[in-house]
Amino acid sequence: METLTVALGDRSYPIHVGRGLIESAELLVLRQPKAAIVSNTTVAPLYLQRLADPLRRAGVEVVEMVLPDGERFKDWRTLNSIFDGLLERRCERSTTLIALGGGVVGDITGFAAACFQRGMPFIQVPTTLLAQVDSSVGGKTAINHPLGKNMIGAFHQPQLVLADTDTLNTLPDRELRAGLAEVIKYGLIRDLPFLEWLEANLESLLSREPTVLAEAICRSCRNKAEVVVADERETGERALLNLGHTFGHAIETGVGYGEWLHGEAIAVGSMMAAELSSQLGWIDRDELLRVEQLFRRAGLPVYGPALKVERYLELMQHDKKVQDGKLRLVLLQQLGKAVLSDAAPPAEIRRAIGARSAHA
Ligand code: NAD
Ligand code: GLY
Repeated sequence: METLTVALGDRSYPIHVGRGLIESAELLVLRQPKAAIVSNTTVAPLYLQRLADPLRRAGVEVVEMVLPDGERFKDWRTLNSIFDGLLERRCERSTTLIALGGGVVGDITGFAAACFQRGMPFIQVPTTLLAQVDSSVGGKTAINHPLGKNMIGAFHQPQLVLADTDTLNTLPDRELRAGLAEVIKYGLIRDLPFLEWLEANLESLLSREPTVLAEAICRSCRNKAEVVVADERETGERALLNLGHTFGHAIETGVGYGEWLHGEAIAVGSMMAAELSSQLGWIDRDELLRVEQLFRRAGLPVYGPALKVERYLELMQHDKKVQDGKLRLVLLQQLGKAVLSDAAPPAEIRRAIGARSAHA
């Protein structure tokens, strides 16, 4: 097991990464001997009892809640069902809420933890690659609104992240590839040696070699932890973690939540950002093709859906980085170095979207 720390003073917490951790009740230090585990209809049959049974044997009262599976359920209605369950089962402010699943379960459970009785302790047990490398770390929690992704949410840091890499063995290939989009992101925005390592190790990652997967997860989490520690509330550097997200969220909302996986939308969004960076002369054509090649090798899309450019622009106006009505985008100043910029003229933004869209 490797343990990293998100160093946030008295809210610091560990990220444990390793095999078979889900059954290690002793790692879950609870404030009171009651916990509520939130999972979904896909993950619960696979892992809920493996997490709950050791806790019960250790004397913890465990409440179980199983949500419907899917991005389209990351909404008010499902959130409210968590509150119903917590109240009906007499959970208290000091009960620990545990999210067991991918980023959808993690985001909605984290938001429930932020709101219930004005905030309760919260643990992330991520079971997708995307959640282990990104969404479980850093305290961003949210639900979607029909007009925009992750529009309603709160910052609420977990007390612990427990990433059991064995859980990735049951993850469908498409979901594994979607997770790689966020892994590649760290290389592109701030870690060129990691990008080169990914280029050299992609096949091993796709074939789920445990040591290579664990290294990718740890290097990703180290990058994420460093950024979160420097800028927890996204007043600056943290925005760079959103490479491709302004375009990607427009895709997810535009085609309907769940049609495109988040990671797939982020891959295309990152290509749009790279295309725009190349149009501005910040990266050259060879570098653009190098980025494209890596996403292609990861089995990720590099062209967006048949969504009109105007529709992109309309949806992108809801982005959280819009300031005084002005769009700010994360672009690549060079490979391994991203910047938040409003330098791109609207015509160039349109051109980049058009160049990376199927039939726009
Ligand atoms: P997801 O949570 O929908 O999980 C993907 C699918 O895999 C689901 O069907 C799920 O039930 C299934 N699954 C999960 N673990 C499994 C396992 N071990 N074996 C078999 N099936 C399993 O999707 P995701 O990609 O994990 O997360 C995407 C979400 O994360 C999006 O809503 C996105 O907005 C959010 N996100 C949040 C942050 C953040 O900082 N909070 C960062 C990135 C993404
Ligand atoms: N995934 C973006 C962030 O955590 O800031």
